Amino acid sequence: MSTAPLQVAIDGPAASGKTTVARATARRLGVLYLDTGAMYRAVAYLALRTGTEIDNEAALARLLAANPMDLELDESAPLGFRIVAGGHEMSESDLQRDDVTAIVSAVSAHPAVRSEMVLGQQTIAEYHSVVMAGRDIGTVVLPNAQVKIYLTASIEARIERRRLQLEQAGVDVEFHRLAQEIEERDRLDRTRAVSPLAPAPDAHVIDSSDMDAQEVVDKICAIVAAA
Ligand code: DC
Repeated sequence: MSTAPLQVAIDGPAASGKTTVARATARRLGVLYLDTGAMYRAVAYLALRTGTEIDNEAALARLLAANPMDLELDESAPLGFRIVAGGHEMSESDLQRDDVTAIVSAVSAHPAVRSEMVLGQQTIAEYHSVVMAGRDIGTVVLPNAQVKIYLTASIEARIERRRLQLEQAGVDVEFHRLAQEIEERDRLDRTRAVSPLAPAPDAHVIDSSDMDAQEVVDKICAIVAAA
């Protein structure tokens, strides 16, 4: 008898702690992990490197066709997975660059970009148990996921998490711009026409403002055990 792969969807706004929590949850459950935000960031990185206009959906689609994204889910890789595109393996500092962050919401709003990324995400989850983090995982990518989490936190907690994440990635960002960047991305991600950020109706909402990552992982694993 075959059992369906386990799908755990973790969505939430920018810097809510999804990546850390998703990776640790996957490790605890012994399943694969994918941060889908990294895929959209990789597209933004490629667009910058090639001078592709971010408002030109057809040009972005051609860019992706010419540079297919090679995804390998490997816990031992620095990010917990590898993304190779255009002959380049994306590092955390590539993906977290200020200029990438500034355009990633606009790049990810194009249906042609989303359909390519979603297809890759669904293909992985069809055959492998996975914890997937993003904005539309519980609503669009894995609507039948056994467990859906909507992870949120106060803006103050999210600024501090983002500051730490950037510091660890060795990315230089002016502190006073963080709040503006996070709020602007939230606005764009929530109001876009296609797959906007929103909790799935059947998601467990976790406000992690006063929780550390370990407590959130414990809570998600308890929800998985009870599912
Ligand atoms: O999680 P992150 O901040 O690295 O995500 C970067 C951007 O990618 C985010 O602002 C919106 C987009 N994104 C998306 O549209 N859908 C996802 N599943 C994940 C990210």
